[in-house]
Amino acid sequence: MPESIRIGALASGGGTNLQSIIDACEAGKIDGSVVAVISDNPDAGALERAHNHTIDAHQIEVPETGTEGWKEADRTIIESLEDHDVDLVVLAGYMRIVGPEMVEAFRGRMMNIHPALLPAFPGVEVQWDAVEYGVKLAGATVHFVVEEYDTGPIIIQAGVPVEQDDSGQDLADRIIELEHRIYPQAIRWFAEDRLSIEGRKVVLEDPAEVEAGDGPYIVNPPLEAF
Ligand code: GRF
Repeated sequence: MPESIRIGALASGGGTNLQSIIDACEAGKIDGSVVAVISDNPDAGALERAHNHTIDAHQIEVPETGTEGWKEADRTIIESLEDHDVDLVVLAGYMRIVGPEMVEAFRGRMMNIHPALLPAFPGVEVQWDAVEYGVKLAGATVHFVVEEYDTGPIIIQAGVPVEQDDSGQDLADRIIELEHRIYPQAIRWFAEDRLSIEGRKVVLEDPAEVEAGDGPYIVNPPLEAF
């Protein structure tokens, strides 16, 4: 692992997770920097956030999933990330399916954040699904990306309570606060070269010695710097 990692981000939306990663890098909490941001959405707030931090950012048109054009777009994204010599790719609210070629190109060094406690509630708008289902605990997951969506080896999870009168938006607001802590934490561990993948499991070297339940919510492995 190089001294300081180079991070490439794919994002489709507002980019608050991206912002938390940029901020953690700038604060020295992650020994690395975001060097490229790519979006399928020309109006993504994530692009503006990147520009505000003078990070190279651009939009790539991504046609419908599964088409030849979609595969071609993935190749263009891979090339761009390789041109930027990235060590790690983070999906930060990237709302498109990542194709097998991209998964292969960055195997073991591509992460995603998902606003549910996987393997429960894969997919999109899952905070609303969780409220509808009536679960009492919800949360967020950071995992490595594999071919099958939302199934990769799990790096860290955070659990939050679902209150009786929560709307989907209430729950989403509660979850995203934790997303902004666990994603930078996972990236910091990666930058410290403390993560290894053993089959389905991610093993963290030398985890912090605090109870998983310390703090307002359950986060495991425990947070160190966030
Ligand atoms: C987050 O909830 C993330 O988990 C999901 O999409 C949302 C993106 O939000 N995949 P933002 O663009 O990072 O603000």
